[in-house]
Amino acid sequence: MEIIIFKDSASASLYAANEITNLISGRPDAVLGLATGGTPVPIYEELARKYQRQELDFSKVTTFNLDEYWGLSPIHPASYHYFMNQHLFSRVNLDPARIHIPNGLAMDASQECLQYERQIAEAGGIDLQILGIGGEGHVGFNEPSSSLSSRTRIKTLISRTREDNKRFFKEDEEVPFHVLTMGVGTIMDAKSILLLAFGKGKAEAIARTVEGPVSARIPASILQMHPKTKILLDEEAASCLELRDYYQYVYENKTKADRISQDK
Ligand code: GLP
Repeated sequence: MEIIIFKDSASASLYAANEITNLISGRPDAVLGLATGGTPVPIYEELARKYQRQELDFSKVTTFNLDEYWGLSPIHPASYHYFMNQHLFSRVNLDPARIHIPNGLAMDASQECLQYERQIAEAGGIDLQILGIGGEGHVGFNEPSSSLSSRTRIKTLISRTREDNKRFFKEDEEVPFHVLTMGVGTIMDAKSILLLAFGKGKAEAIARTVEGPVSARIPASILQMHPKTKILLDEEAASCLELRDYYQYVYENKTKADRISQDK
């Protein structure tokens, strides 16, 4: 894992948007894994800006979202279909046929999840997966105790996640109890991963992800086993890391080494 600590969330988001841009510039038919929640919104803003400035072309890009609420229609304002349309899909030239999000209204959840896995495989796998993290260390909607080799399936949300996500729902609405989510194993198959976390509320989950034991108690901790994962943090999210100064030192010296090799 490479841990990069930025002065603020805006710089981290810009870094992530640039990584996506570099990928698509080198490989116009790249396959992106996308996340929802507040964390990735500035990345999508920047990608939309780059598209408007004609610096990016999404016409051949394929996308797979991590998850969707079970029982919510795609036009429900708290659904992840709606969220993605609002923040990215309606603002760039993605081909609707290449956009994938689990169908929260599928009659047969296990069939839907099997088909989702098949579609990812047929697309050649995910090149770059964007991730946020839940307060209890979930990725996608893989709550504590999720099998670390799980595939896309239906899951039950813990109370803390339902509480955290209440802000996306109207006051008189209930946050669904169930979701369809890529599994931890599905996420681990991505060729590269960027996990972003900002703010004090994520600091403990990040410390346990990066420095704790690999455990289903903190599903994100399995990323320690992924060969190409970057953890992009602001100062607050990094504040509980024991080896914080070491990560900073490694990054500074790495960029120095990169500059020297570029100069040659
Ligand atoms: C939801 C999503 C996750 C996301 C998490 C964190 O639970 N399923 O993919 O990482 O929220 O959300 P936020 O970025 O708003 O903190």
